[in-house]
Amino acid sequence: MRHLLSPLDLSTQELEQLMDVADDIIANPAKYAESCKGKKLATLFYEPSTRTRLSFESAMLNLGGSILGFSSADSSSAAKGESVSDTIRTVSCYADICAMRHPKEGSAFVASRKSTIPVINAGDGGHQHPTQTLTDLMTIRSLKGHLNNLTIGLCGDLKFGRTVHSLINALVRYDNIKFVLISPNELRIPDYIREDVIKANNVPFSEVSQLEDALPELDILYMTRVQRERFFNEEEYIRMKDCYILNSEKMKFAKEDMFVLHPLPRVNEISIEVDDDPRAAYFRQVQYGVYIRMALILKLLEITV
Ligand code: CP
Repeated sequence: MRHLLSPLDLSTQELEQLMDVADDIIANPAKYAESCKGKKLATLFYEPSTRTRLSFESAMLNLGGSILGFSSADSSSAAKGESVSDTIRTVSCYADICAMRHPKEGSAFVASRKSTIPVINAGDGGHQHPTQTLTDLMTIRSLKGHLNNLTIGLCGDLKFGRTVHSLINALVRYDNIKFVLISPNELRIPDYIREDVIKANNVPFSEVSQLEDALPELDILYMTRVQRERFFNEEEYIRMKDCYILNSEKMKFAKEDMFVLHPLPRVNEISIEVDDDPRAAYFRQVQYGVYIRMALILKLLEITV
């Protein structure tokens, strides 16, 4: 039995296979419509979510399976003090696979140790968000045709943004990748990502604070929200929250074939006027998230169609 706790739990070859299955799902949805009949997905969400929880549920329903779960810690027995370990042992009696989001780093790992069903990390604190990374890779491969030879700008809250941490972990395994890390000093990428992931893999990178300076060289711009829920101090969040706002004026600095991605939700960091720019890909990214999660559920349940 396999879990997905980090993007590194899948080899690049397995990632390619998953994306190929997702492409086939897009082309032939009817072929997959009953592939999970009789199977149940549990969504255990101790933190708010729109896309991740609903895309998992949509994915399982598209595969002919069923769903159960909770959408907040308050509506589960966590509110009465139940541990993650006891909850997962219980849920293992009800479902065939589960996706779990939790505010504490390492929670999905803890769950996986006691689980008798595959556990998918749907976001653990400021640590990792591997299925967002699958979505991001699928989006980039679909839009650019490849995952090699790319200059990728990551902009915003690089300190707390778990989607950025997971995406960097995944992309360092591809050829000729360069990162431009765009953030205020206070929200720079954590040392363990810079040193142990980027530098350790000899991936070229630069760190800048001005978005306009970085834009002309980028193939992909990955915008992120300042993660209010991870700040210890509301005043500090308010000072930081609008540090970058991508608008139509700034998009003039970007290449014609650069794409803008964002894991969403967005707050102010992308003006809605950018939504009409053909390079704005963040809602296409949402759609790819369903197909790649369908492919992932099939893989972890060892179902071949
Ligand atoms: N991208 C993402 O994780 O969105 P949600 O928080 O809405 O699930």
